[in-house]
Amino acid sequence: MQAALMQALPATPVPPASAPHAAAPAVLDQLGRPLRDLRLSVIDQCNFRCTYCMPKSRFGRDYPFLAPAQRLSDDELLRLVRAFVGLGVEKVRLTGGEPLLRKGIESLVERIAALRTGDGRQVEVAMTTNGSLLARKARALRDAGLGRVTVSLDSLDDGIFRAMNDVDFPVGRVLEGIDAACAAGLAPVKVNCVVERGTNDGQVLPLLEHFRGSGVTLRFIEYMDVEGPSGWSQSRVVPSDELRGRVGRAHALLPLARRAGDTASSFLLADGSLKLGFISSVSQPFCGDCTRARVSVDGRLHLCLFATRSVDLRQHLGACPEQDLAEAIRQAWQARGDRYSELRAGLRAQTLASGKRQYPTVRMSLVGG
Ligand SMILES: C[S@@+](CC[C@H](N)C(=O)[O-])C[C@H]1O[C@@H](n2cnc3c(N)ncnc32)[C@H](O)[C@@H]1O
Ligand code: SF4
Repeated sequence: MQAALMQALPATPVPPASAPHAAAPAVLDQLGRPLRDLRLSVIDQCNFRCTYCMPKSRFGRDYPFLAPAQRLSDDELLRLVRAFVGLGVEKVRLTGGEPLLRKGIESLVERIAALRTGDGRQVEVAMTTNGSLLARKARALRDAGLGRVTVSLDSLDDGIFRAMNDVDFPVGRVLEGIDAACAAGLAPVKVNCVVERGTNDGQVLPLLEHFRGSGVTLRFIEYMDVEGPSGWSQSRVVPSDELRGRVGRAHALLPLARRAGDTASSFLLADGSLKLGFISSVSQPFCGDCTRARVSVDGRLHLCLFATRSVDLRQHLGACPEQDLAEAIRQAWQARGDRYSELRAGLRAQTLASGKRQYPTVRMSLVGG
């Protein structure tokens, strides 16, 4: 793979290789949070219909997914990423819909991985995928420069897994994908499990046993109320504290230090055989140090997973000078005061009292989780 230098934005020229490099000065939002991570959704379609994300009742055959002309091209996506990197972004996570369905995803990975931060480091490229196509793509993705992968896996039980993806996809193929990712060195591979009470919460300990000693980090995500599924209720959420209690009764857990920006609180099984994470987006929202910008494949910048407003960056692509695009992103980030996960926690109580939802939801498969 060719290691090309990042094409510098005029505002932040790349110093010559012999000079000391300078990291991009942090762009801070209204709450003092730096712009560090980009979640880039590269497609809004998916081959699964997870009941908690894209239920068939809502995302049927006639669902108006974005037409190819509405999706940003690879060149446009790269231009966007370059602008974000010029503003201090160090890590880009490709997501979707299902990112591996995007044609030529390997080449997009390669082009992003060739970019350099202001102080000359390679931009970290990661991906969140349902794993259905990973067994045959893991090696090529690694060769293209993908650093890490997170695979969604909600159950080891084939029947439960098929029912949750709702397209009868066998769990064995995703497990093969995880093995292929480990073998390709996409480490540490993370496995994400959305826990839904009464559906797959009995799978927590079997998943834990399965991944002990594998090097995989296993994370449990609280079931969030997002646009699409109609079956969400607070009673179907298993709070992380409860899950941690269940795991703690079976295994001694050592807490690990939380790093700024981490979405999960992390633990190690006392025998060192597995790292675990709990993502408490419902019970303990973590907006305070959120450094993530999200861009959907139609070129809209979402400053918070649950924000109702988004900024159209597409108008700054095309013939616009690159510094205009960077300036639009900078201004949007500097104006950002969003902390909707925290605010929603309060509004949820009002919702329970009134029986009517008091907060907006997000189309997860467009914004990318
Ligand atoms: C929208 S998916 C996109 C990437 C890929 N298709 C996948 O499933 O990994 C990104 C993440 O969002 C999570 N997600 C989707 N709906 C959710 C919900 N209602 N609550 C919590 N997490 C959810 C998925 O489990 C996944 O880890
Ligand atoms: S969670 Fe991922 S795999 Fe499941 S429907 Fe949503 S986008 Fe598809």
